Amino acid sequence: MICVCAQQKGGVGKTTSAINVAMLLAQAGRSVLAVDVDPQFALTRRLGIELGALKATVVDVLAGWVDPDEPIVSDVHGIDVMPATRELAGVELALAGEVGREIVLRAALEVLDYDAIVIDTPSNLGLLTVNALVAADVVVAPVAADDEGAAQGVAELRGTIAKLGRLRQPLPDLSVIVTKAKPRRVMSDVIDGALAALGLEPVARVPDRVAVEHADVARTPIALSAPDSAVTLAYRQLAEQLDARRVIA
Ligand SMILES: Nc1ncnc2c1ncn2[C@@H]1O[C@H](COP(=O)(O)OP(=O)(O)OP(=O)(O)O)[C@@H](O)[C@H]1O
Ligand SMILES: [Mg+2]
Repeated sequence: MICVCAQQKGGVGKTTSAINVAMLLAQAGRSVLAVDVDPQFALTRRLGIELGALKATVVDVLAGWVDPDEPIVSDVHGIDVMPATRELAGVELALAGEVGREIVLRAALEVLDYDAIVIDTPSNLGLLTVNALVAADVVVAPVAADDEGAAQGVAELRGTIAKLGRLRQPLPDLSVIVTKAKPRRVMSDVIDGALAALGLEPVARVPDRVAVEHADVARTPIALSAPDSAVTLAYRQLAEQLDARRVIA
């Protein structure tokens, strides 16, 4: 099962969702690889991976310089990680002129053997995100409860998925989650209304908690530092839903 966290709206919780879903799938006993395809490499950083110590990254895989298993950092809080660096932006540009440029990541991941692969993407619908979408079985699109534009972002993401056409059959499923949810706020109703108008029903609601930011700073995912928090519970339910797909696939 390959799950991609995507949404062109920035700061909505893509990286937070990718990290915590990966952790919770691992806690459920699955072998998990988290792949960072964001040139800002927040996932890599927030898992405490030191870039200086790396011999290779996802950059080298996409450029075709190393085998896909080479950059993998083993057992980072129980998951394996394919880290990223800033140079990813350059690789995206270089790929743009290549034949088969949208399927490079998918081809690389195909040779790896994991129960679940979770991919974090940048906040745009460029070639790196398209590479991730082409590899995806399910796309998790976070919509922040305080960000009206994020619902529009999902509509654009859905349009991009629909256009993958022959690059990805069957097309990946789109699951919307609401993040930074605050109960009884007017804006939450606005967001719910906007999603309903798009025919989308959120599959999870992750509450707004300052502990999530603390977890970023501490380089320890909230799923580990606060296993009983409402945020972890919401992500655990999401991970269970994603894991259930494994049986069908
Ligand atoms: N449930 C939450 N409660 C409170 N803060 C949150 C929550 N989820 C995410 N955040 C915070 O919101 C900010 C953005 O989250 P995150 O980095 O996961 O979003 P992103 O979509 O990956 O952003 P980018 O577009 O920059 O990649 C971070 O500071 C994170 O700690
Ligand atoms: Mg991010």
